[in-house]
This record gives sequence, structure tokens and C-alpha cells, in this order.
Amino acid sequence: MNEKQRLESQNVQTENPADKKSEKDYSKYFQGVYVPPSLQDAKKRGKEEVQYHKDFAIPDEFRGMGEGRKFLIRTYGCQMNEHDTEVMAGIFMALGYTHTENVEDANVILLNTCAIRENAENKVFGELGHLKALKREKPDLLLGVCGCMSQEESVVNRILQKHPFVDMIFGTHNIHRLPNLLNEAYLSKEMVIEVWSKEGDVIENLPKVRKGNTKAWVNIMYGCDKFCTYCIVPYTRGKERSRRLEDIIQEVRHLAAQGYKEVTLLGQNVNAYGKDLENIKYGLGDLMEEISKIDIPRIRFTTSHPRDFDDHLIEILAKGGNLMDHIHLPVQSGSTDVLKIMARKYSREQYLELVSKIKTAIPNVSLTTDIIVGYPNETDEQFEETMSLYREVGFDTAYTYIYSPREGTPAAKMEDNVPMEVKKERLQRLNSLVNEMSAQKMLALQGQIVEVLVEGESKKNPDVLAGYTTKNKLVNFRGPKSVIGQIVKVKITDAKTWSLNGEMVTEAESVEVI
Ligand code: 5AD
Ligand code: SF4
Repeated sequence: MNEKQRLESQNVQTENPADKKSEKDYSKYFQGVYVPPSLQDAKKRGKEEVQYHKDFAIPDEFRGMGEGRKFLIRTYGCQMNEHDTEVMAGIFMALGYTHTENVEDANVILLNTCAIRENAENKVFGELGHLKALKREKPDLLLGVCGCMSQEESVVNRILQKHPFVDMIFGTHNIHRLPNLLNEAYLSKEMVIEVWSKEGDVIENLPKVRKGNTKAWVNIMYGCDKFCTYCIVPYTRGKERSRRLEDIIQEVRHLAAQGYKEVTLLGQNVNAYGKDLENIKYGLGDLMEEISKIDIPRIRFTTSHPRDFDDHLIEILAKGGNLMDHIHLPVQSGSTDVLKIMARKYSREQYLELVSKIKTAIPNVSLTTDIIVGYPNETDEQFEETMSLYREVGFDTAYTYIYSPREGTPAAKMEDNVPMEVKKERLQRLNSLVNEMSAQKMLALQGQIVEVLVEGESKKNPDVLAGYTTKNKLVNFRGPKSVIGQIVKVKITDAKTWSLNGEMVTEAESVEVI
């Protein structure tokens, strides 16, 4: 059997797709033949029970589809997307594809996109512009768009009209359908579009190829029901669905057995963990307590919503051990009035009370946050409240953003009287404060001995090693390559705004570790 016959026997198309493109007829997409994604439908929260599927398998007819072919996935956005990319890489490998980072070598390129702000979307459209030329040179290259942007009808329409050379579009709920979608894309003369506006079930046992062998992401829940007025995530990621405790425990145990040193439990709103599980009274605190019993040195979680951060979780985190002393707790604004318009469902005072409880229970805790400036009609006074809250909490660092209207969200319909120059100026002032306080926190570590999980060579200098402290601070130091993947003690000699330099210390030299 020659290569062409082999591929044809697997239903894999062998004709040159360059030919098919010229025949493409897009009219059917605009006559309602395919079901376009709908943010209105994505907003609905049904009562139907989520099904748990543990029987995922690569269909036999697709095995070998990727032989002789290479895939590349470009990932934009958050850790959830990073982890979805690991799942898609797992599926590609199970289909027989090999991985490449070189666009020239790739036979399939996927853009795993982020919809959170306009500039995230612009990056993807810019990349599509670059890839157009490559696609012209290599017509049999398969080009796909997936992730959060695919869930938006306006994006799908724009791709259909302006980037018709794209071969496939799929969303966040049907990643497990990748083998079928690839197969369809090889066979079809049309752009393959499959986006589900209603969230899917929870699919267990998906293959994964993790990026490193020291740190791992573990999903504990999907979706978000909070509907903050600015945020597109509840629409692109669907309703809250928790994974079952036993499946999470099994995954973390497996990672520990494979030698991973750190897991980060992932969800858009991890504090809502368990709320959707019928007849089970389990929250994030209970889950963390169970996971802390597993023999793995470091456990983290992200992202927290202050509203659901309960006392039981604080009590469990205060036990320390393998539960890290760093909490990312997005506040978004320091003004109660703005928080109300954002529908965050807590006030400035309630946030500060939560912080005070956390600090009492975990005195040395490191807190980081997310902040949006320039919300529609945000006044100077309201912005000053954000500045004062930042100082009062004493955050270690923050991700700061100018508000970006997202079509379909309530905030996008609000009138906004804040000029862009004012928004930019506020961001600049906030960033100066963030830098100043980060530098202060770093300086406080000078002379201290910290524990560092060594990840590898520093990006800037291969003779230097780099890793992270329990509080997630980057440390660069000289040491033998043999400690990569290990936790070592490092004395901090030099503090910078965003990183620390240090010297590795032996057991005998270490007196007090923080
Ligand atoms: N504009 C600006 N920032 C946003 N975020 C979410 N939606 C928007 C938006 N429309 C920020 C929030 C969130 C982080 C992940 O992104 O701060 O916590
Ligand atoms: Fe992640 Fe949200 Fe961006 Fe989607 S929109 S990639 S969930 S940050």
C-alpha cells in the first residue's frame, strides 16, 4: 500500500487542498446551514445534570492519521488555555503526529485563542494575517482556530469573510472531538466549523502531553456562573462544572508518582468548586485538605473569587505543609460603587475583611491580584480608592488592565465618559505603585534563605539556573544542572523589581528558611 492509499484507507484526504480552496463556496454558511455560535445561548444556565464520561478513546479509524505529519499549537491567554493545549497535544500525539515549534515544518497549525480583551483578539487576527502567506506557499497546511474566540459569532463571521483560508474552527467545549474534526477538515472542501454554545459534559481520561516534568496543571472545574458585567468568560466557557473528587485525586497521585513537584489546581472560579455536585457537600477547602495528604511538595490553585473564599479554606491553607503561602485574589477595583457596577458581589470593606482574616491565619502570606482601571464612568476618586486599597493590602504584585468592552456583556452597553488618555494615565500610576511595592517585597527577602523549585536554565543566561519560591517569586542562581527539578535552598543576595538573585546553600549553611 503506498502512502496515498494508506491515508485514503484512513479516510484522510490526499488531494492538494490548494485546489479545493478555489472551489470553496461560502454562501452556505450565511444561509443557516451551520449553527453559528451564540453568546445569547451561551448565557443560559440549564438545570440538566452534567454527564461524566470516562471512556474517551481515539477512534480506531483515525489512528495513524498523523503519521509523517507535524503539529504546532500557538497558545494565547490564561493557564486554562495552556492546559487545553496540553490536552490537544496529547490527542495529536495519540493520532501519530509529531510536535514542531517551527511554522515552516508544520502540517497543522492551531491557534488556541483568548477573548478576554480586544488586544488578545487583535494578536490572533494579526497572526492569521501572517499565516495567510504561509498557507499560500503551503496549500496543504491545515490551519485551525480554537479556544475562546471561536465561541463568539462575530469572530466566526469575521474569519469566514476575511480569512477564508482557515480550514477549521472549533470551540472550548468540543476539544475531545479533535480527531473527528481533523478528519473532516482533510476531507471537506469547506471550512469545518463546530462550536457548541451550550457547555459540554466533563470528559475524563483525555490524553495530555504536559509542557514540563516539574510542574503540572490539574483542572478541578470548568466554566463560570459569576457573570461579572465586564467578562466574556461565562459565555465562552459555559456553566460551572466540577470534576469529581476521586478523578482529581487520581490525577494528582499519578503526577506525584511520575515525579512532578508541583500541581496548580485550575478553574475560572475555583472557590465555587463542588457547588454544582448533587448530593455531595464538598468545597475547595475539603478538596485541598484531601490533596494535601498526597506526597507532592507543592500545591497551588488559581483563580479565586473573593465572594466564595470561605473560612474552612483559610483554616486548611493555614496548615501550610505542601499548601503554598501565596494566594491570587483578584479584587478588580477598590471602590464599592465600581464593584457594584461590576457585579462582583462584595464591597471594598468585605474584601479588606477577607484579607485581614487570611493574614491573621497565614501571617506570612503573599497576596497578588488583578485590577481593571478605566471602568465605564470610573471617577478620579474611585480610582484613588483602588490605589489606596492596593497600599492597604500590601499586594506582592498585580496584573493590571485597562477595561476592554466585550460584545455581548452588560458593560459593553454602558456609556463611558472616561477618555482613553485618562485610562492610560491611571494605568501608568497604578503600575508605578505595583512596581514600587513589588521592589519593596523583593528587598525584604535580601539576606534570607528561601526554598526554590528549580525549573531549568535561566532564559537570559544558560549558566544560571532559575526557579520559583513558595510565594512564586523568580530566583536566579548558579548551581549544578543536577538540581533541575529539585527543591533547593538559596540565599538571596540581590533583589530586583521582578526577580531575585541568590546563591545556593548547603544543608549545613541553612539556618532559617522562609
Ligand atoms: N477588560 C479588561 N480586563 C478584563 N479582565 C476580564 N475581563 C476584562 C475586560 N473586559 C481581567 C480581570 C480578570 C483577568 C483575568 O482579566 O482582571 O481577573
Ligand atoms: Fe482564558 Fe478567559 Fe482568555 Fe478564555 S477568555 S483564554 S478563559 S483568560
